Amino acid sequence: MIRGRFALVVALPKGRNFSDGYRALAQAGLELPPIENERALLHGREGGVAILELRNHDVPIYVDLGIADVGVVGHDVLLESGRDVYEPVDLGSGACRLSLIRHPQARGPIRRIATKYPNFTSRVLRERGMVADIIELAGNVELAALTGLADAVVDVVQTGATLKAAGLVELEVLAHSTARFIVNRQALKLKRALIRPLIERLREQSSSRGPERAPGETE
Ligand code: PRP
Repeated sequence: MIRGRFALVVALPKGRNFSDGYRALAQAGLELPPIENERALLHGREGGVAILELRNHDVPIYVDLGIADVGVVGHDVLLESGRDVYEPVDLGSGACRLSLIRHPQARGPIRRIATKYPNFTSRVLRERGMVADIIELAGNVELAALTGLADAVVDVVQTGATLKAAGLVELEVLAHSTARFIVNRQALKLKRALIRPLIERLREQSSSRGPERAPGETE
């Protein structure tokens, strides 16, 4: 069990948002443990700050259920998770979008959509009064559009390099996303003295830096 052994438990996602999240929190004055062993999943010493290194979609779960007190995760993941976490700061980093993507030669109605974001996708379909089967995949979703597993996919586009390499086209941007600082609602009360000033400093930092846009993205 981790509860009570650390002053603060921070959930960070592996990959793109890890280093940006780590940097933002360190700049805000949080005494983070050094990442000494790249393969470790839990960094930190008893009594200090601990970092849990998680898959993107697991960050809101750990924070909502109070295993982690705070975390950093993309807004896209929060749109999917439906978890009840406090989302006080837009860090502005990790800008990307959730888009509807298709093979340029695909014709006819979209009856089957593959995605890592099934809840988000079904919400979009419902709002538009559209009907399609949703196939949930764990990764490399573009392959579904390339191979004909699905008529279209809903996936993250950041630089657009993956789309380009696969020869797919972005039909429509469904949502924009940036990294967010999230907080467990109970921890906000119990660890107020630590978390409140952190929120304030993160807000100051992100407002002085201004929004980051995904490459190729315009206002
Ligand atoms: C995401 C997404 C795309 C890619 C888009 O995958 O699913 O495949 O990044 O980024 P780009 O526009 O910069 O090319 P991720 O790397 O998170 O891996 P996954 O598909 O295994 O989840």
